[in-house]
Amino acid sequence: MIEPPGPRAKEIIYRDGNVMSSCMSRPYPLVIDRARGATITDVEGKTYIDFVAGIAVMNVGHSNPEVSAAVTAQMEKMAHCAFTDFFADPPVRLAEKLTQLTGYDRLFLCNSGTESVEAAIKLAMWKLDRQSLIGFYGAFHGRTLGSLSLTCSSVKHKEHFPTIRVVHAHYGYCYRCPLHLKYPGCGIECARQIETLIFKKEISPKDIAAIVVEPILGEGGYIVPPPEFHQEIRRICDDNDILMVADEVQTGCYRTGTFMAMENFGVRADIVCMAKALGGGLPLGATLASSSIMDWPPGTHSNTFGGNLLASAASLAALQFMEREDIGTRAKQLGDYVMLRLREMQSKYPAIGDVRGLGLMIGIEIVKPEGSIDPDTRGRIVVEGFKEGIVLLPCGDSAIRFSPPLVITKAEADTGMDRFEEALKKSVC
Ligand SMILES: Cc1ncc(COP(=O)(O)O)c(C=O)c1O
Repeated sequence: MIEPPGPRAKEIIYRDGNVMSSCMSRPYPLVIDRARGATITDVEGKTYIDFVAGIAVMNVGHSNPEVSAAVTAQMEKMAHCAFTDFFADPPVRLAEKLTQLTGYDRLFLCNSGTESVEAAIKLAMWKLDRQSLIGFYGAFHGRTLGSLSLTCSSVKHKEHFPTIRVVHAHYGYCYRCPLHLKYPGCGIECARQIETLIFKKEISPKDIAAIVVEPILGEGGYIVPPPEFHQEIRRICDDNDILMVADEVQTGCYRTGTFMAMENFGVRADIVCMAKALGGGLPLGATLASSSIMDWPPGTHSNTFGGNLLASAASLAALQFMEREDIGTRAKQLGDYVMLRLREMQSKYPAIGDVRGLGLMIGIEIVKPEGSIDPDTRGRIVVEGFKEGIVLLPCGDSAIRFSPPLVITKAEADTGMDRFEEALKKSVC
């Protein structure tokens, strides 16, 4: 870790080191004090352009006044009501809004992405009375033991921990095709192998409850598969009576332009997991399905905080804000612009091997001159970015993600891109 930028940051990081669990890893010493829109101010008073949005959470922008007002008003009435034991209006209004936005007519509320995935796993297993799943190499679905079993982005997450049975298949990662084929002539062999290889040699489809897939790989490298990839998975699920689960935890809430990223691929999953941006900054997750699937009896699944009144109020305000401001169109337009700027840089700096994305979910892959992954240079760029005044995070083996608040202005995006180019120059020259 580089030297903290000032005495206040240094002191807080020191105290953090004395009391916080050592399991977290931070890439650079950013100590945040406050944030507004798409800018973050650290405890030394320095302001940064935010390309992380609290890991794709703050789609409505930091300190969104409408979300603040809704949370404050709810706090004055009541914060928590044990919604899974009693009834209340705010979570029901939230559920009604979500069913209107998605077309799914049932949902279960929880507090995080991993819990929304756990609920999806349990629902699929309960519905089909089967205990195994198909996941994908590079996927990230969370760190509780069920979702961790699906997660396959780094062995570090899984070492020493038990898992449920998941067979992993290849994701549609065309830039580095795991099968060394070329799209579109490949016939989407990566997805087809679920049927032609896995179901023939490894596990019977009769034992599979669900295929769980991210519309775009998030932690695994911001990888956008070709549209036929998800269409092929849908077909395999239909032909084999398996449920398709879309993990929209990172891609959801207009990040890619549409409310759910699967809409970009013309595919409708049977069960959808959402969290992150759904809470407008408060912890909230949801698992959505049709009532013909989500018909498990009372007692099958529940929790304490699901339907928390503050989280429900924040979420409703965030959803209303995003819908009214047509934030999806904005994400598409600004996303196209940011990708254009990154492609211009790619033509000048061969270290940028690939630029990919949908809406404001954009990744670049940093490569060595011969094209292999270059995690060291990627790490240097991220740290130089911090020094230049932008907040970045790595993802995948060698990628950097750009997932700013969707309210970022074009001027802020330009400033951020200028600073990114400076960081790039200093890291690769
Ligand atoms: C696609 C996806 N699913 C699930 C999760 C887990 O979410 P949480 O950290 O809220 O448990 C993440 C977190 O990054 C994610 O990106």
